[in-house]
Amino acid sequence: MLLTTAIVALAGLWQLPVDAIPSPSFDITSLLSQKSNNWAEGTVISFPNSPTFVNSTTRWNTYDEPTYLAAVSPATEADVAKVVKLASAFNVPFLATGGRHGYTTTLGNLQKGLAIDLGQFKSYSIDKAAGTLTVGGATTLHDFQDALYEAGYMIQSGSISCPGYVGVTIGSGVGRFQGVFGLVADALVSARLVTADGRVVEVSKTQNPDLFWGIRGAGANLGVITSATYQAHKLVNQGQMLNADLIFPANKSKEYFDVLGSLSGKMPEKLAVITLVVYDPVAQAAQIIANWVYIGPKDEGLRVLAPVLALNPSVSNIQVVPWNKLVTVAAFGADALLCPRNQSHNTYWTTLRNLSSSTFQTTFEKVNTFYKQYPDGRATTLNLETFPNQATLAVPDDSSPYPWRDALGHFQIGISTTSNNAANDPTAQAGDLLARQLRDGLAATSGYPELTVYVNYAHGDEKLRQKYGERKLPRLVGLKKKWDPRNVFRFNNDLPTQL
Ligand SMILES: Cc1cc2nc3c(=O)[nH]c(=O)nc-3n(C[C@H](O)[C@H](O)[C@H](O)COP(=O)(O)OP(=O)(O)OC[C@H]3O[C@@H](n4cnc5c(N)ncnc54)[C@H](O)[C@@H]3O)c2cc1C
Ligand SMILES: *[C@@H]1O[C@H](CO)[C@@H](O)[C@H](O)[C@H]1NC(C)=O
Ligand SMILES: *[C@@H]1O[C@H](CO)[C@@H](O)[C@H](O)[C@H]1NC(C)=O
Ligand SMILES: *[C@@H]1O[C@H](CO)[C@@H](O)[C@H](O)[C@H]1NC(C)=O
Ligand SMILES: *[C@@H]1O[C@H](CO)[C@@H](O)[C@H](O)[C@H]1NC(C)=O
Repeated sequence: MLLTTAIVALAGLWQLPVDAIPSPSFDITSLLSQKSNNWAEGTVISFPNSPTFVNSTTRWNTYDEPTYLAAVSPATEADVAKVVKLASAFNVPFLATGGRHGYTTTLGNLQKGLAIDLGQFKSYSIDKAAGTLTVGGATTLHDFQDALYEAGYMIQSGSISCPGYVGVTIGSGVGRFQGVFGLVADALVSARLVTADGRVVEVSKTQNPDLFWGIRGAGANLGVITSATYQAHKLVNQGQMLNADLIFPANKSKEYFDVLGSLSGKMPEKLAVITLVVYDPVAQAAQIIANWVYIGPKDEGLRVLAPVLALNPSVSNIQVVPWNKLVTVAAFGADALLCPRNQSHNTYWTTLRNLSSSTFQTTFEKVNTFYKQYPDGRATTLNLETFPNQATLAVPDDSSPYPWRDALGHFQIGISTTSNNAANDPTAQAGDLLARQLRDGLAATSGYPELTVYVNYAHGDEKLRQKYGERKLPRLVGLKKKWDPRNVFRFNNDLPTQL
């Protein structure tokens, strides 16, 4: 493999403190191209507009995205450490990326930076005897789910196949299996992590336990994970589950949300519901696409689903699927629509521990009105994830940073417009305003004293305590001070080094 030697004349210099600039001729090209770097064979350095650069930097979301003067795609863990050390030493702002599905707007604070693309860390291995799964820093559920199922195991995950599994984990990882297995981070056993000063450390219950605590909820602030090992679970119900995809027109929304709201505080542990609201061009109105999953036998699941099925959905597709096919099948195959990159999503979420049917209905009606008033905003969607919390709550609160173990749901408003949310577009502006109002309304009946948000779902404008939880902040801030005192990992809802 060759070291990329594309020498591209770059106009911009990094914004460095004067004393950090090694010489007047310092620029990104020369810093990365120094012979003394001695990059491993296979490590690729690329510059804007080259196909390799595009391939290593194109993100899921273009709204408030970071920009880069160069990308490094290390082939080895030693090169990840080397580039972090180099970037830290020269105050080069950088972002390490896995699946590139992060959409918090704070990522856009990185402009003309360096991308550390972990795209070459996409492997996985399964220890069949121990039931453990080890993945690379950019491996996705899509990469390993079939092999894990074949090996006789299953594991908790996010609800679609394409985000980085480590990226999901280090926020905590919410998903359909929360009632039976807990958060994705709850399955983490150990990780290998590159620290802010460019050292490689092992992290587990016994090795650097403080860091092990911190990466299971605030990991993007603390280091770059090259590999992570998880404890998988023996297949439950032979790994088979009930998947029901249902469509309800606008005139059934109230009854639908009444059924959903009736689950507040008593959601069965094997049930998981995702409710999407999208525009229906035939009815010219909002409609509900509901995905109800039961992680158990079909007949048992049908009994649990009876109240929603009794509403006579206009379309109903009910099937039994193995867990490794669930995310691609669910919601009529929404995964294929949700995964593609390079689109603009202006996203706001609220975390809920109370499921308020009347607030859901109000939210639905307001979006329905928005669709009518703003034809250019009809790609806007609502996404209400309601997951049980039995297994999540069974893990002690102080075992990880995640502050919302009692949550029963997360409500997303995703503004998409034909202009790709252009700043001067009235539809995008009206959508942004609406989304903030809806978020406030949802927060008011969320059952939490104020707006709360799961950090990996954060818009980025929320207060620190609303993302990390007041009671978790002192410990997190201490960790930040110890492991990243100069805040080099600062582009994802960054923690301060003192309160
Ligand atoms: C369509 C979609 C569906 C989603 N569904 C879910 C869901 O069901 N459940 C859920 O919990 N979340 C979900 N998410 C949110 C997801 O958890 C975050 O977007 C997460 O940050 C994505 O990680 P990534 O590696 O793909 O993204 P990136 O943009 O590559 O990274 C996001 C952040 O994580 C850091 N990071 C990524 N990999 C590493 C690593 N190996 N070491 C250190 N830092 C790293 C990056 O530096 C960055 O700060 C979803 C996101 C999208 C876009
Ligand atoms: C894009 O990147 C992926 C992983 O990083 C790699 O497997 C693929 O070959 C790359 N494609 C191109 C065209 O460079
Ligand atoms: C509800 O809406 C659907 C789809 O638009 C329509 O077919 C149906 O007739 C409506 N039902 C009532 C009772 O208005
Ligand atoms: C991303 O979309 C923009 C238009 O919105 C387009 O100009 C650009 O080429 C796309 N990039 C990729 C990698 O597809
Ligand atoms: C929870 O939702 C119910 C049903 O809509 C509502 O009556 C109640 O006020 C909400 N609770 C809180 C604490 O907001």
